[in-house]
Amino acid sequence: MEFLENFKPELTVESPGRINIIGEHTDYNMGYVLPTAIEKKITFKFQKNGSDNICHVYSMGYDTGFELSLDKIEISKVEWENYVLGVLNEISKRTDKLRGFDCTLESHVPIGSGVSSSAALECGLAFGLNEIFDLGLSKMDIVELSQAAEHTYAGTKCGIMDQFASVMSKEGHVILLDCESLEYSYIPIHIQPYRIVLLNTNVSHNLASGEYNIRRAQCEEGVAVLQKKFPGIKSLRDASMDMLNDVKGELDQTVYNRCSYIIQEKTRVLEAVEALKKDNLKKVGELLYETHEGLSKMYEVSCPELDFLVEFSKKFDTVLGARMMGGGFGGCTINLVHEDAIEEFVKAASAAYEKECKLKLTWFEASPSQGTSIIKN
Ligand code: GLA
Repeated sequence: MEFLENFKPELTVESPGRINIIGEHTDYNMGYVLPTAIEKKITFKFQKNGSDNICHVYSMGYDTGFELSLDKIEISKVEWENYVLGVLNEISKRTDKLRGFDCTLESHVPIGSGVSSSAALECGLAFGLNEIFDLGLSKMDIVELSQAAEHTYAGTKCGIMDQFASVMSKEGHVILLDCESLEYSYIPIHIQPYRIVLLNTNVSHNLASGEYNIRRAQCEEGVAVLQKKFPGIKSLRDASMDMLNDVKGELDQTVYNRCSYIIQEKTRVLEAVEALKKDNLKKVGELLYETHEGLSKMYEVSCPELDFLVEFSKKFDTVLGARMMGGGFGGCTINLVHEDAIEEFVKAASAAYEKECKLKLTWFEASPSQGTSIIKN
C-alpha cells in the first residue's frame, strides 16, 4: 500500500487478547466472568492522513490491507475487514470527529483460538482513533462500541467479556465482572507455584458460523418459559435450579440442559473467586473440570480435540484443573500446571494429541497483563 512508503506514525497502541479463568457463556446471560488480558497483543500504529474520509488499514502479518471511505461504510466479504468497518461504523454513530487515517497492525494474538483476537482488534482500533482524533470516548464507550461492532458487522451476538477484558485489565489481576450491573473488581492472582498454560488445539473455530448465536437464543427461550411462572426473572442470572426444575416439563430437553449449565456456572465463578482469595488452588482446579464437563455435555460447545486434552490432563497430579476456554468448538484449553512440570506435561500432551487427533499442538504460558495501552505518543 502506498501510504507505507511515507508512514510516520504518531501513535502506537497495544491491544491484548484475553484468558478467562471461569465463567464461560455467562456474560450474555448477565452472570459473572473472571477474565484478564494476556501478553499476546496486536500492535497498532496510526497517522492522520489529512483527508476527510479516506482510510487505509494494513495487516503486516497477512501482508494485505484495504482502503475505505468513512462516508461509505458497509459490510465486507472479507471477514477481518468487518471488525474494522464495524468499529468505524459504531464510532461514526457516536461522533462526527473521525477523519481520514492510516493504520498498520501486527498481531501476536492467535486467531480462532478462544483468546479473542477479535476484541483485541476492535478495541485497539477504537482506542487509537479516540486518541489521535480526540473523540472524547471513555474506556466503557470503547468496550461497548466494540461489542456492538461485533454484533452488527461480524454477526456474533457476543457478550461483553472480551472487550471489557481487553480494555480494562490490570497486570497481575483477574477481573470479577458482573455482566448485569457492569460493576467489577480486580482480584490479585497469586497462584505460585502454579502457572496458567494454554494448549491450542489448532482447531480453528468461527463463532459467526451460528452455533454461538444459537446458544444465546436457547438461553432466551429458557428465560421466556421461566418468566411465565416467575415474572420477576429478566435473565438466567435471576434463575435458580429449583425454578428451572419447576418448569422442566415445559422445556425442551436441550434448552433445559443449556439453562442448567448456565445456572451452575454462575455459582462456580463465585466459588472460584472465594477459593482464589484463600489460595485454594486445588478447589479452583476442580471447578475448572466441572465447567468443562458442563460445557461439553450440557452446553455442547466443546469438540473431540478439546475433550481429549482435558481428559489427558487428568493423568497428571501436577495439573490441578483444565477446561476449554472461550466460545468453544476449537481453540485452547486453559490448564493450571505446576511450574516444575510444565515441560513434561506439554511434551506428553503434544505427543498424545498428535497421535490421537492427527494435529499439532501449540502452547503458551499466559500471565495476567495490562489492558489496551498507549506505547508511544
Ligand atoms: C466469546 C464471546 C464472549 C463470551 C465467550 C464465552 O468469546 O465473545 O462474549 O460469551 O465467547 O464465554
